[in-house]
Parts: sequence; structure tokens; C-alpha cells
Amino acid sequence: MRTDPTVQHLRIGQDLLRGRRARRKFAAAVILALVATAAGLAAPLLVKEVISSYSRGGSITAPAVLVGGAALGSTAGSAASGYLLARLGEDMLFRIRQRVMAHALRLPVSTVRSLGTGDLVARITSDAMLLRAVVDTGVVQLPLAALTVAFTLLVMATLDWILVLVTAGSFVVAGIAVAFVLKGVRRSTADQQEAVGVLAQQFTAHLSALTTIKAHRSEQHAADRLGDEAAAVQATSLRAARLESLIAPVMGLGQQVALVSVITSGGFRLAGTQLTTPDFAAFLLYLLQLVQPALVIATGMGRLQAGLAARARLNDVLALPQEGDGAVTAAAVQRQDEAAIVFDKVAFAYAGEPVLHHLSFTVPRTGLTALVGPSGAGKSTSLALIVRFMHPTEGTIRVLGRDVREWTLDELRHRIAYVDQQFGLLEGTVRHNLQLGRHQPFDDSSLTAVLETVGLLEDIQALPHGLETVLGRDNDLSGGQRQRMALARALLSDAEIILFDEPTSQLDSINEKRLRAVMDRLAADRTVVIVAHRLSTVQHAHHIVMIADGTATASGTHRELLDRSPLYRELVASQALASG
Ligand SMILES: Nc1ncnc2c1ncn2[C@@H]1O[C@H](COP(=O)(O)OP(=O)(O)OP(=O)(O)O)[C@@H](O)[C@H]1O
Ligand SMILES: [Mg+2]
Repeated sequence: MRTDPTVQHLRIGQDLLRGRRARRKFAAAVILALVATAAGLAAPLLVKEVISSYSRGGSITAPAVLVGGAALGSTAGSAASGYLLARLGEDMLFRIRQRVMAHALRLPVSTVRSLGTGDLVARITSDAMLLRAVVDTGVVQLPLAALTVAFTLLVMATLDWILVLVTAGSFVVAGIAVAFVLKGVRRSTADQQEAVGVLAQQFTAHLSALTTIKAHRSEQHAADRLGDEAAAVQATSLRAARLESLIAPVMGLGQQVALVSVITSGGFRLAGTQLTTPDFAAFLLYLLQLVQPALVIATGMGRLQAGLAARARLNDVLALPQEGDGAVTAAAVQRQDEAAIVFDKVAFAYAGEPVLHHLSFTVPRTGLTALVGPSGAGKSTSLALIVRFMHPTEGTIRVLGRDVREWTLDELRHRIAYVDQQFGLLEGTVRHNLQLGRHQPFDDSSLTAVLETVGLLEDIQALPHGLETVLGRDNDLSGGQRQRMALARALLSDAEIILFDEPTSQLDSINEKRLRAVMDRLAADRTVVIVAHRLSTVQHAHHIVMIADGTATASGTHRELLDRSPLYRELVASQALASG
């Protein structure tokens, strides 16, 4: 994974305390937690008072009420502090999710493809949830528990310091054992989250090919493959669970050892009168109270390790470089006399596999330019290079007189309307789909006019809620309708250059004719580049470029190419044959 060293990594502290309100909430949570801890610490001392007072024959009402108050205060304080922290944690997660999603949408298409959509989804759902534990435990509970342990030991030392040494010794031995376990927890959580990512990716990929799987009656085979991935998740999760399940018993063992040692040596000290009964009672209560924060420290460290492993996976996404903006130089002035698009000896390879070689051609400012050629020749790749989804490995592409690398992405993509071969629809209303990329809303009359132009108005009006129908789940469009939606979107843009990849592949001849008229109208004052297999769509183009094996073999008008290019003649002959 190529990473960007200048990237802003997730900083839990900063992310958690963004804004004054967050800092106030955090302060309140800390104060409430401190109050709860202090009240909890005071309780045994007050119990000691109750016992002393009773043995002196005095009243126990006041100290008993105080014991109750301390217990109540401790409970209420820790509940309120827990809730405040949960809110802060959720706020932080909300911001982190937004940030990671926004970053992912700005990554180059090839990066997203190689990461996998499912894996990305797993990161902002399951990894982000694990990260939440860092807030709960790492930021307050852990330090507070450590503080509680320290204070408790201090108070215990005032009662009997020798017994404190016995206690601390037992817990230190348990602590060393737990530290070893924690190292493994972080590693196995990272493995577990990676396996979850792979499973999510596989499941997403299978769902998006669902019709193909069903058509081949391959559901069981697909389910078995997914089952293997689920088993991999189970194996890694079990490894993590095995390690985590050791933490509490090891700490429990430490407590048992401490309890036995303290009771034994305490008994001797009681007999030797170095220790009084109320002090011993209070000491034992403190010892029991020590278990809770000690356990919080041990299990909290486990969750912290898991959260940190998750944070690393989110940071990996944030470290991926976004699509870069070109450095706009003063020399890069747009010349009016230049062609709209110039390919100058362009080479390109997908993952080291060469696809374009020395590809050179020119697209004039106005008029219809067609790219034709056999399947896999590199036509779609050329269009993708114009909108800078990828970069040429050699040569240059100039758009409106300026090297494509020198445009800012905003400027470049604002000037180009690109309709790819997928005719992607977003899950959203028809209106939302048409409005894509536009900040000012279109009024209904412009939307209906455009839908009429591409011959889609009746189909949209027939949908249950017209323009407000949500597309993508229960209401979908046919291939040809999608194609016309994509065209409508391009018509609504005010781009100077329009790139169409196979815009008529799924249209009937009536719609194809209608579309040709639309293209001609557009080409009167804009640059229109169209990739098409069907020569009927493009043979009237002003300029045709023949691409074969990643290079331009000929260019000119239909007539000129018939004379010059044997491959073009072959293409025409084969289609005449097919249609005749
Ligand atoms: N994302 C990708 N990763 C790797 N190789 C790719 C990718 N997209 C296309 N290719 C390869 O690049 C070559 C050119 O593909 P391209 O899509 O540009 O062809 P095309 O001329 O548009 O073909 P068609 O007419 O079938 O749409 C093909 O050999 C294809 O296998
Ligand atoms: Mg293509």
C-alpha cells in the first residue's frame, strides 16, 4: 500500500476533544468519575467508623448514613460519567467515520478497486466500533482505575504497610503474566479485523454478481466459498478470545493469592497486636475493592490493544494518497486555437501490463469525434485518462491547450462530462441522480425537457413517484433507460467537452436515432467524443479515430477511412453483413 507521509493520522486525544463543548463534557466526565472514585474510597473508612463507634458503644446512625451516601454517590457519579464518555466517544466516531469516508471517496479509482469496497465498508463499521473502546477504557477508565489502585494502596499503607507489600507483590506477579497476554491480543485483533475485511469484501463482490451466480445455479458454491472466509474469521477471533479469556482469571488468581497471604499474615499481626480488628476489617474491604479497578486495568488494556489495532487499519486508509491536483504553472495558459484534446505518444499500463502504446490523436474543439476499434483496444482506457482517473506512463495528454496534469481536478472535471460504460445510478431519487454534481437545483421544467429530449419522460412519469422515485432497490431502470439517464445528466451539465463511452449499446433503433440527433446538436458548439461499436452511430462523425492494440492506426472521415484503413473497411464490412 503506497502511503502519503504528510497525512494527518487519527489522534484520539485531539479527535475526542474537538470544540469547547466536547472539552466541557470531558471535564465533567472526569470530575464525576473522580467524585465516584473518592466516594468509593471513603466507604471502607466510614465502615471502619461504624465498627469503631459500635465497639465504643456510640451512635452509628451518622456514619451509617454517610456509608449509604458514599455508596450512592459512587454509583451515580460513575453512571453519569460513563454516559458522558459514551457521548463523547460516539461524537468522535461520527467525525472519524465522516473523515475516512470522505477520504475514501477522493482516492483514485484504481486504489479503491484494489482495496475492495467491502473491506473499506468493514473498516468504517467494525473497525470503528473497536476504536470506540479506546475512548471508553483508554482515555478515562484506565487512568482512573490506575489512580484508584494507587490511592487505595496508599490508604491501605496507612492501615498496615507490611500487608500492602504482600498485596502488591501478588498483583505484580499477575500483572507480568497479563502483559504477555496483551501483546498477543493486539496481534490477533489485527489478524481478526483483516479477516473480517476479506469476508466483507467477498460477500459484497458475490452480492453484486448475484444475478450471474443465480443464473448459473452457483449459490451453493458461492455460499461454500464465503463459508471458508467466515471460518477464517472464526479462527482468528477464537485466537483473540482465547488470549482475552486468560486476563480475568489471571487477575482473579492474583487476588486469591493476595487474599490468602493477607489473611494469613494479617492473622499473625492481629495476634501480635500490631493490627487492630477495625483496621484489619477496613484493610480487607480495600483489598476486595482493589479487584475491580485492577480488573478494569487488565481487561481495559486488552480492549485498548484491540482499539489500537483498529485505529491502525483506519490510519492505513487515511494514509493513502488522494487523487492529486496538478501543479498549475503560469506557462499553462489555455490557447484558444488548440484542439480540445491532444494525445501525444501516450503509453499506459494496468499494473505493469501495457495497454496503450504511442497513442497519438487529436480531437477538434467542435464537432463529433468517434473512437472506434476492436474490443479491448484501449478506447475506454483513453477516455479514463482524459478525466485523469489514471495517469499516462509516457507521453502527454492536453485538454483545452493545457497538460492534463496541470489542471486542478475541479476545473478539469467541471469542463468534462463523462458518461462511462457502466451508466451508474446512485441509490437515490431520479431527481438526485440528474442533479449529481450540481449545486444549484434544476427546476422541474428543465428536468422534464431534458428527459423528453432523451426519450425518457414517459418512463419516468410511469414510476410510482415520478421524479421523486428512489432508484436502486425496489425501482430500477432497464439498461437502455439507464443509458438515457446518463445522457440526460450529461445534457444538463454545461461541460465544454462531452465523452460518451458506448452510449447507444443498449438502445433500440428509434432511440439510437433520437440520440444521434442530440449528439449532432451538442457537437455544433461543444466537443463530443463518442466511443461506439455500432458504426451507424458514428459513421457521420466529423472525425473518426481507429484504435487497435492501444495505438491509433488511422484517422479521418468515414470516406477517408474506407480508403485508408483496411481494418476500418473490415469493421464496416462485418457490420454491413450483420445488418444485411
Ligand atoms: N481496471 C483494469 N485493470 C486491468 N486491466 C484492465 C482494466 N480495464 C481494462 N483493462 C485491460 O485494458 C485493455 C483495454 O481495455 P479498454 O476497456 O480500454 O478496452 P475498450 O477498447 O474500451 O474495449 P471495449 O470495446 O470492449 O469496451 C483490455 O485488454 C483490458 O483487459
Ligand atoms: Mg470500453
